[in-house]
Amino acid sequence: MTTVDLPLLPLGRGRDLGSERGVDCPGDLPPASDPDLVARARAAREALGDRAFILGHHYQRDEVIAFADVTGDSFKLAREAAARPDAEYVVFCGVHFMAESADILTGDDQQVILPDLAAGCSMADMARLGQVEDAWDALEAAGVADAVVPVTYMNSSADIKAFCGRHDGAVCTSSNAKRALEWAFAQKDEAVTGMPTKVLFLPDQHLGRNTAVLELGFSLDDCVVFDPHRPGGGLTPEQLRDARVILWKGHCSVHGRFTAEVCRELRRTIPDVKLLVHPECRHDVVLEADLVGSTEFIIDTVRKAPAGTSWAIGTELNLVRRLANEHPEQRITFLDKTVCYCSTMNRIDLPHLVWALESLVAGQVVNRISVDRDTEHWAKVALERMLSLPG
Ligand code: 13P
Ligand code: SF4
Repeated sequence: MTTVDLPLLPLGRGRDLGSERGVDCPGDLPPASDPDLVARARAAREALGDRAFILGHHYQRDEVIAFADVTGDSFKLAREAAARPDAEYVVFCGVHFMAESADILTGDDQQVILPDLAAGCSMADMARLGQVEDAWDALEAAGVADAVVPVTYMNSSADIKAFCGRHDGAVCTSSNAKRALEWAFAQKDEAVTGMPTKVLFLPDQHLGRNTAVLELGFSLDDCVVFDPHRPGGGLTPEQLRDARVILWKGHCSVHGRFTAEVCRELRRTIPDVKLLVHPECRHDVVLEADLVGSTEFIIDTVRKAPAGTSWAIGTELNLVRRLANEHPEQRITFLDKTVCYCSTMNRIDLPHLVWALESLVAGQVVNRISVDRDTEHWAKVALERMLSLPG
């Protein structure tokens, strides 16, 4: 039996794209209602052949995923981008920080394209370089900076990754946050710094807390939250000295919507339901869940489950809908009462993809994402520390 219990709201096709044209997407963006869009995308894709490689994050719309050469979570896509030295163009169907990472990990002769420059990430925007530098000053003033290793989630801008590279830190993704934190805690020598090693975790407090507490065995009291909008992060030097994990006050506006209350309600109403959530969810939601992991883990878990399993899945809606459609043998419910697409992931739609591909065919590179050399160097240091983690 197929049970798909998902909010069925339109995907946003047919919305008026006129206002977007003049702002972030100059040129002739085809209207979303163009009945030939799929044929145009196919023709442009074919014309580009091996010169282009299209990466698609799991949160992308189906209409875009249909044209991806490879799909994946942030970690897999970073690896895939690095493994395509022959592609002249890497078309990144995801968000800005992912395209930046792809530019950092690809060669100078390769060009990375983000079909809509407005596809940013509200979480990444919660940590600005100036704020992070001020936070580091506060750590220095508290006399703890020498014992701190900064680790930034992939979902951060290139200059934050570069900051971590410069300060002997690393990048992590939701697939390897545990290994990255273990690596970070092993970097400093207590005999030299005079105190146990600490991690400054940017910018997602939830991934940082969930990993530190549930995977590494720290207590909630070992964690403090640094609020960049308050002087000194809203923390006393003593609190900074006592903490083992300093969490940046950032979060995902999509995953932050899931609540423990709905988890409990679904347990009451769906017999034997398994709650499967992303670690960007709040700590109380993760505590209610049966299984926690990255988007790749979520897909794999559903694929391998026995037919007839009931799931309530807490991650972005495009992915949950796709899983529900691809697995009619499972009972898949979305872990929220209201729709929560990632609005910036959804900016990449077929009109933008067609526009980007047709422009390339015409010899015009549009929406190129290019990171400056110094930022690229240090961000690459932090990214490569992540890519070389064992496992
Ligand atoms: P992963 O791709 O690492 O699972 O992250 C989810 C996400 O929010 C990407 O923006
Ligand atoms: Fe950013 Fe959250 Fe959207 Fe991912 S799902 S791009 S973290 S806002």
